[in-house]
Amino acid sequence: MSLPSSLTLGSLRVDTPVVLAPMAGITNAAYRRLCAEQGAGLYVCEMITSRGLVEGDQHTRDMLVFDELETTRSVQLYGTDPVYVGKAAEILCAEHGVAHIDLNFGCPVPKVTRKGGGGVLPWKRGLLAEILEHAVAAATPYGVPVTMKTRKGIDEDHLTYLDAGRIAQETGCAAIALHGRTVAQAYSGAADWDAIGELAAAVDIPVLGNGDIWEAADAVRMVEQTGAAGVVVGRGCLGRPWLFRDLAAAFAGGGSSVVEPVETPTLGEVATMMRRHAELLCQHMGEERGCKEFRKHVSWYLKGFSAGGQMRRSLGLVDSLASLDALLAELDGDEPFPASELGAPRGRQGSPRARIVMPEGWLDDTDGAGCAIAEDADGGSGG
Ligand SMILES: Cc1cc2nc3c(=O)[nH]c(=O)nc-3n(C[C@H](O)[C@H](O)[C@H](O)COP(=O)(O)O)c2cc1C
Repeated sequence: MSLPSSLTLGSLRVDTPVVLAPMAGITNAAYRRLCAEQGAGLYVCEMITSRGLVEGDQHTRDMLVFDELETTRSVQLYGTDPVYVGKAAEILCAEHGVAHIDLNFGCPVPKVTRKGGGGVLPWKRGLLAEILEHAVAAATPYGVPVTMKTRKGIDEDHLTYLDAGRIAQETGCAAIALHGRTVAQAYSGAADWDAIGELAAAVDIPVLGNGDIWEAADAVRMVEQTGAAGVVVGRGCLGRPWLFRDLAAAFAGGGSSVVEPVETPTLGEVATMMRRHAELLCQHMGEERGCKEFRKHVSWYLKGFSAGGQMRRSLGLVDSLASLDALLAELDGDEPFPASELGAPRGRQGSPRARIVMPEGWLDDTDGAGCAIAEDADGGSGG
């Protein structure tokens, strides 16, 4: 089977059909640049709230930072009120030069679902349509495509993805990304790629498949199995930005679906990547905050390597680039990449949720048109 070699989102053409999933606290300007240095693709900024943007909140502004080499600015917006979302989309286009806006309808965090946002919002089909219409109307004059990202539904008894796909298409969205899990599953179990295939067969707009891509070969398999127009990759690239190099190679030319064996980095090469990551974070945030941000990535980079507890603890407390260099110099640069990590899940997995917190009576009505939910000023935990 021939594979797609690029991705078209409205007027935007992406050189490889690969998207870095928005991940709160992870996909900041430094991380996007690090991944972009590895391969081609679309690199989405961590989620920002519509209200935060409209009201000029400082925390929101701080997140809307782009690397100087980031020519295609892509941002994920969160919102529950069509008017706020429309205004926020307008601001992103007019003042921040974005080239792509994604809307978050997948977040499973109780703080968000409690208000009817994120992954439970598509239950209200009418409200979902209004939000998408406002975003598309605001972005269209700028030629900026709007996409939505969602989950299968609230739980197996309250699925929403097929209706969401139809609504996305009817309202003029350029694509829909589907994470093949329900809100109730959170990150547990396995992503349901059949649902992605079902959605791809049901709509004419591009469907982007998301969930459980750990290696380039998984991405190829997902596209072959589902007919998706491209893939969205999240946890698989944590501590492994070179996954984007492998993905670009796998989709290059669009020809064969045979994936060449990947070249895995030695610990020395991983250390070089860690240094680059820390350096980019420090460039964007200053050394103190940059090093602090870097700490959360240490265990992902070292997963499966033999580095001992003391080394991991010291790296987890690193507070300057000089101390990072000294620690990295102690690692055995020749240690090969641990085979046990190839194809293995990483990042959060957790367990299913017994109960989804939603507004009172949320499931009683499936429309919700005209019932905009008050915007949350800080919904910024993503997911
Ligand atoms: C730390 C973290 C933060 C996330 N933040 C967001 C977010 O802000 N917006 C969003 O749509 N999804 C978010 N997600 C979900 C991912 O985008 C993705 O849908 C999910 O991890 C499944 O893909 P994967 O199996 O490739 O990781 C987050 C996931 C993680 C692990």
